Formats: sequence, C-alpha cells, structure tokens
Amino acid sequence: MERVRLYDKTFKTFIPHERIMEAIDRTAAKINEDFRGCTDIPVLLCVLNGSIMFTAELMQRLEFNCELVSTKLTSYQGTGSTGKVKQAMGLTADIAGKRVIIVEDIVDTGNTIVELKKILAGHEAAESKVCTLLFKPDSYTKDIPLDYVAMEIPNDFIVGFGLDYNELGRNLKDIYVLDEEA
Ligand code: IMP
Ligand code: MG
Repeated sequence: MERVRLYDKTFKTFIPHERIMEAIDRTAAKINEDFRGCTDIPVLLCVLNGSIMFTAELMQRLEFNCELVSTKLTSYQGTGSTGKVKQAMGLTADIAGKRVIIVEDIVDTGNTIVELKKILAGHEAAESKVCTLLFKPDSYTKDIPLDYVAMEIPNDFIVGFGLDYNELGRNLKDIYVLDEEA
C-alpha cells in the first residue's frame, strides 16, 4: 500500500485510479441515458476546486451537447467542515432557464449542496440535479436527493483526485484515506 505525507498527516491508498474510472463510466452512462436526445443544452456546473478532475473525466464521456460553467465554494478547513459555506467565486456564465447538473467531488454534510441549490434557484435555473463522485451517507443530514452518486464511502477524511488537505493532494491520481495509525 502506498503512503503519502501531506503536512503533518499520512494517507494510504484507498481507491485506485482504475476503480475511479470505472465508477465514472457507470455514472456517465446513467446521465447519458437520462439526457439522450435532449433538445435543450444542459449545463455542467463544476464546483471548484475539488471537482475539477471529476468534471473533466465525466464531461469527456457525455454524448449530448452541454456547456460548462464553474463556481467556487469553500467550507472545509483542515480535515473538517466549518459548517459555513462561502461562495468564493460567482457563476462564470448565465444559467437562467437552463437545466443544470451540479458536479461535486464529494457530498459530506450536504451544506454545500443546500447552498448551491439556493444559488441556482436565485439565478433562475430551470432545474438542478446533483452528481457527485463521492458520498458519505453517514454524515449527510439533508433531504435533498442526490441524483447521481458514483461511489459511497465511510465517514473518513480522504484526499486525491481533486480533493485536498489544506490545498495539498489534489494532484494525486488515486484517492487516499487518512492513516490514523501513522
Ligand atoms: P459538505 O458541504 O459538508 O457536504 O462538504 C462538501 C465539501 O467539503 C466538498 O465539496 C469538499 O470540498 C469538502 N470535503 C468534504 N469531505 C472531504 C474529505 O474527506 N476530504 C476533502 N474534502 C472534503
Ligand atoms: Mg468541493
């Protein structure tokens, strides 16, 4: 098992790149099924920074015309949620009247999703769906349905494939979990 050190913490391999790709294949297939033949142009909303890798991989697999819009939200500090979600960058384009697929790296408490749904309603999106690479069901406290979940994981802190520990680890190809014994 490979280990990586980021600042004061050690992480060990948890989900290898190949398994991430398989999960994204399955998720893209479901989205393609739901959106095949659509006459509108749906928007993929990349939630920076964490979602950048997932959005790029997912978008390559989509077989309908779609646009890419980004925004940036922050709530995590170190290995835990602050409970406060800040929009650090607004939407990069107008989404009024459009169907939006929110693309998230991970849904944990759900605070970010609640905030995103509010932002999209405020900008008059026609509809918004949630697509997330990872989901921590034991931590989720909201009742907003998650339309596409690529992988469910236990309530542990992870990094890699876009996810960070104080901004480090985003470049890792695999997903790593905090090694509590190290
Ligand atoms: P939520 O608002 O609590 O659902 O958290 C969502 C955001 O917190 C995600 O988009 C991530 O940026 C961050 N986050 C949640 N869990 C983790 C984790 O295990 N590692 C790194 N970032 C995380
Ligand atoms: Mg995020």
